[in-house]
Order: sequence, then C-alpha cells, then structure tokens
Amino acid sequence: MARNIFLAMASKSALTKLKTLTESIREHDYNYYVLDQPTISDREYDRLYSELLKLEEDHPELKSESSPTMRIGWTPLDKFIKTPHREPMLSLQNSYSPEDILSFDEKLKRFLKSEDPIEYFAQVKLDGLAVELVYEDGTLTKAITRGDGNIGEDVTQNIKTIRSIPLTLRGKVLPKLLEIRGEIVMLKSDFKNLNIQQQERGQVPFANPRNAAAGSIRQLDPKVTASRPLRFFAYAKGKVEGLNFNTQSEFEKIISEFGLPTLKVANQMKELGKKNKLSLITTLPEELIKYYRQVDKLRHSLEFDIDGIVIKTNSFGIQTKLGNIARSPRWATAAKFEPEQGETTVEDIIIQVGRTGALTPVAVMAPVNVGGVNITNATLHNQDELDRKDVRIGDTVIVQRAGDVIPEIVQVIKKKRKKGAKRFTIPAQCPVCKSIAIKPEDEVVLRCVNPICDARLKESLKHFVSRRAMNIDKVGERIIETLVDEKMVTSFSDLYKLEKESLMALDRQGEKSTQNILDSIEASKNPTLGRFIFSLGIRFVGEQTASLIADQFGSIEKVLEASEESLLEIDGIGPKVASAFVSEISRPQMKTEIQNLIKSGITFQSENTKESNSLQDQVFVITGTHPYPRDHVKDFILTHGGKVVGSVSKNTNYLVAGEAAGSKLEKAQKLGVDIIDWDSLNKLIMK
Ligand code: IVH
Repeated sequence: MARNIFLAMASKSALTKLKTLTESIREHDYNYYVLDQPTISDREYDRLYSELLKLEEDHPELKSESSPTMRIGWTPLDKFIKTPHREPMLSLQNSYSPEDILSFDEKLKRFLKSEDPIEYFAQVKLDGLAVELVYEDGTLTKAITRGDGNIGEDVTQNIKTIRSIPLTLRGKVLPKLLEIRGEIVMLKSDFKNLNIQQQERGQVPFANPRNAAAGSIRQLDPKVTASRPLRFFAYAKGKVEGLNFNTQSEFEKIISEFGLPTLKVANQMKELGKKNKLSLITTLPEELIKYYRQVDKLRHSLEFDIDGIVIKTNSFGIQTKLGNIARSPRWATAAKFEPEQGETTVEDIIIQVGRTGALTPVAVMAPVNVGGVNITNATLHNQDELDRKDVRIGDTVIVQRAGDVIPEIVQVIKKKRKKGAKRFTIPAQCPVCKSIAIKPEDEVVLRCVNPICDARLKESLKHFVSRRAMNIDKVGERIIETLVDEKMVTSFSDLYKLEKESLMALDRQGEKSTQNILDSIEASKNPTLGRFIFSLGIRFVGEQTASLIADQFGSIEKVLEASEESLLEIDGIGPKVASAFVSEISRPQMKTEIQNLIKSGITFQSENTKESNSLQDQVFVITGTHPYPRDHVKDFILTHGGKVVGSVSKNTNYLVAGEAAGSKLEKAQKLGVDIIDWDSLNKLIMK
C-alpha cells in the first residue's frame, strides 16, 4: 500500500516535470520555427530535449502522441492511405491579366446585386504543395494531401516532422475541430543546398523547390522527409466546429495566435516579409492591380517561389453568399504572373564533361531574356531526357527558369521544326580526349573512361580548389583552364609545384596576383583529413561521407588501406559508396597522386579534439534510444578514441543499447558482444 502511494507520488511529480518540459520545448519550437526568434541557445534546447526523452523513457505511461519527441522515429509505410476531406479542397480560377481583377470585382457586385465596395484580402500565391491539417481539440490528428479535392492521401507521419507545424495548438480555449489548409514549400536557399547534397550522393537533383517539397512529402519513409528543410504556411480553412470567424483577416490573426505559421507571421520576418508585402486588405480593385504589379517586381527577392496573388473576399458572410462555381469558389480568384518563359532557337547541342566523366548534353540557344535574365544554355541532362523532349539542333523551343534557378527547355515547337532536322544522339566518345564513353550498368549517363582526360582534369581541379574542399581561393576557373591547356598542371599535386616565373609568363599574370596565387596554394596545406578526402572528388563521396571516412580511419595511411568491408561498417555508408571509394583509392595513379600530395607538404589537422584515449581500439555499435541524441553518443565515443560502426559483428566490442533496441541487440546477444547502456559507457572512460 505504502509503496503504491509512493509510486503514485513519484509519477505525479514526474508528470508535473514532464508537463513543464513539454510546455517549454513547445514554446521554444514556436519561437524558433514559427517566429524565427530563438530565445535560448541550441545547446540549452538540446539539454531540455534530452531531459524530456529520458523522463519519457523512465515513465513510458506518461508519454503522449503529441509529445515534441514524437516528431520522428516512425516506421516507413507500405503505401499512403486514401483519406476523404470533410469539405472539398477547391481550386482557384486563374487569370494572367491584371485587368481581369476589375472584371472579377464587377462580376461579384453584379452577383450580389449591390454597388457597395467589397473588402478584399489579397495574398501571395505560394507555389508548393497544398495540404490540410486536422486539429481535434487542439491536437494534430491528421494531415491529408489535396488529391483530387475530395480524397487525398494521409501524410500525417511526414507532416509531423515539419517543426514549424504545431502538434498541439497554443491557447486555453481551443475549437473541437479546426481544419487548416496551407502550402508546404521549400525556401530557395534550402533548395539549393539540398540539390548540392543530392548531387554529392549521386542522386538526381530536383528541378525546382516545388518538386523538391512535393517529393519530400511523398516519401514512404518519414526519416527522409525529416531530413528535408520544409516550411508550411496556412491560408484557408476547411471544416471548423466550436469557433466562428467573421473574416479572412480575423481567421489569420486567430490561427496565428494558435501558433500556426501564417503569411501574417511571415510578413513580420525581415528575410521572408520583404517590405510587408505578403498580404493586403483593400476595397479598391485598382489597389489590387497595383499590389499585383508590386509583388511581381519583388518576387525574385522573396525567399520562396510564388506564382501570382490570390484575391479573396474578406468577409466569410459574403463568401457564403457568393458560393462556388463547379470546383472553384466564386469569392476568390488567382491573378497569376506571366510564366517566366521565352521562345528561342537551339543553335547547337554541346557535350560537357564533368569531373566524374559524365557526358551531359547542353543546348546552346540564341540569347533570350526571361524574367530579366539572359538565358543561353539549358541542360538536357542525359539521352533519355533528350529523347523524351526530342530537342534537335535548329529547333524553336520554349525555355523557362524553373523555380527561379535552373533554365530548362519546356517544349519544342514542332510546327516550326525545319525539314531534315535530325534526332540528336550523344556520341559514345569523349568530345575532349576522344576516349570511348560507356554507360555503366544501372545508370542513365554515358561516362568518359579516361581518368586523365583534360576536361575531367579541369573539373576535378575546380572541385579540388573550391571553398569547401582545399579552399585555394586565388586559383579560379580561368587559371585552371590555362594551366591545363598549357600542360603546366596534369594532377592536383602539380599545383604545389608551380613556380613564380612560369606563372608570370602566362598571359595577364602580374607579380602581385601571382604571389596571391602562390600564397593561397601554400595556405591550403593543412586541411582536415575529411576535407582532403572530399577534395579528391571521388564519386558519391560528398563532404559528409568524407568526414565519416576520416573519423573512422583517422589517418591517410589507414584510409588508403580501407576495404569495402571496413567501409560498410560505417553507419551511413552503403555498398555503392564503399565500392566506388575502394576502386578509386586502389588505382595505382590515385595512390601515387596522394603520396605526391603528402610529399608536397600536406599535413592534417585533427578533426576531433580528443579528450582521452580510454576507448582506443574498441569498436562500438549504437542502437535504441538514449538519454542523448545518437550523434552525441557517437561523438562521445570518438572523442575518447573509440570507433563506431553501423552493424554488429564478431569484431564489435560493445553494443551501446538504449530503450527499444531491436535486431542489433539480438545479434549482439547471439555473438556474445558486451551490451552496455549510456551510464556504463560513461563508466568505461573512468576506468
Ligand atoms: S486560398 C480555393 N491562398 O492555390 C480555396 N490558396 O490554384 C482558396 N494557394 O489549391 C485557397 N497560395 O493550394 C489560397 N495564399 C493562398 C494560396 C493558395 C497558394 C494554392 C492553393 C490552391 C491553389 C489554387
């Protein structure tokens, strides 16, 4: 009896603690992800988060579905479940001419049989993926894509990984049901970074931020979605019970107070709001036209893609009176911006050779101005893409700036095709070194097989000197082209042999700039091992992979001896990467080149400041949930000299197992590997 009371008391105080922690994490999430105004350091936040994780582990009975720790860790789905919307998600009638705004206003007045001014609420039209969030008694219970408007797909797991979307609403009095509609978007800057990562991993880059956002939501594995930088902005409602709104602007204000990210909130952010132009209220159609023009001008400076403005009547009462026409509301219209397209002709199709030998067809076009930018080149990606679009030399084509970033050919105007225009086939030969090009199994691109091809060398050198690699900032593209053409550089290590006299003999090379080049080459001689591996430009080995390899092996000598097997032990490295790495690193020319680089004076900075060597030569595998995020546990082991690998084998010394450990635990038990938890791990270093 006494014990039960004691337990109840312990659990009560745990509950209070859990509530306080949850509240405070939610508050910080709101400040950070919705308002963009963090009030505590990341470190302090991590501490609160770990504390909550630990408390929930000790008291699983207290953990709720909407806990901040429940955003990730879900298992992949087999398929998305079709789910109906309580109220249909309508589409908007589009127009491309601002004058249509005047006729929209007249039409509404005619329908309402009144000349009274109508109050409009205008907003930017976000170019992303529409979703509906369902909040029941303030808790997010479902997220559904738009689908055909009546039935969408349940993407709740994925939506929960977006940190700016509250799992529970703020405020004391919350409606029984609140359906929120809005757009999932990716910021342009996040999109650029994501594409760099995609390429590093040997994956196809996304065409534009909208595709990237939509592709990220349509992932069966929520871990992939969690790794994508997505944002959400709410702009409309579905079914609502237990709350009344009079106007669109009141709706925005109230849901902002519930903690939902809206354009109203974004407007107040310096980097998103850009002169507070994300929305406008007016009764004057001329003002709407002015607004349309203003937004059109500043759209390129916005952080996210928009494709027009949406004009809605502000009063919900009037919206009800106006009703719908077929699948769109009569009370709203979209004034779209002219798509940024232009018509031009393809003058040539050239083949570019990339660092890894990939041959990429590029259309060279007569210059055309698209949205203020002169476009002359558009990538055609590969033979499949070229065939699909059937672009031929001499063709008249429509080009557009996809999501403000990469120019692409949207379509060929076949009617204007000249007689005799031939289909284009990428020759199976490198245009630069004339070696044969082959299409490796499972790939869509042809690759030049010559590792010392001049074109590949130039691209490899550009990568080698780039900021995130060896950071030799004074050696630019122009110099690299000249150095290779003049045969002064035939490998990375030749850069370190350059002499002042020969450099100055080059065209347009003054004494000062020559000295700058030599100084910046000299300054690059002390990279971290990770940077150095990344600089070598091995396929699939991006920054992150390079640093994983460096962490694992610790020295260049060990890296050179790496086997596929030992690489596969690294968490985050798969068979494709391991095999590419080993085959590249064991090429005699590559080995000699690395030795030459070392001979030229390259030494390595240590990446992890080691705290001790107490775990030296010990191999660890981490599994399950720990009081700290997995990366912390890993760093802890690394900084004490230990190794961390991804899977349990007979070479594993310890399995650090947390809550909910699964197959790895079983395997470790079978193999008789020592199983320890976080606390025992700490004790190991104190021995
Ligand atoms: S209000 C039709 N506001 O545009 C219901 N929609 O082409 C009223 N959209 O499916 C929607 N930005 O996904 C509204 N600020 C905004 C919007 C917006 C983008 C999307 C929405 C809709 C599509 C119609």
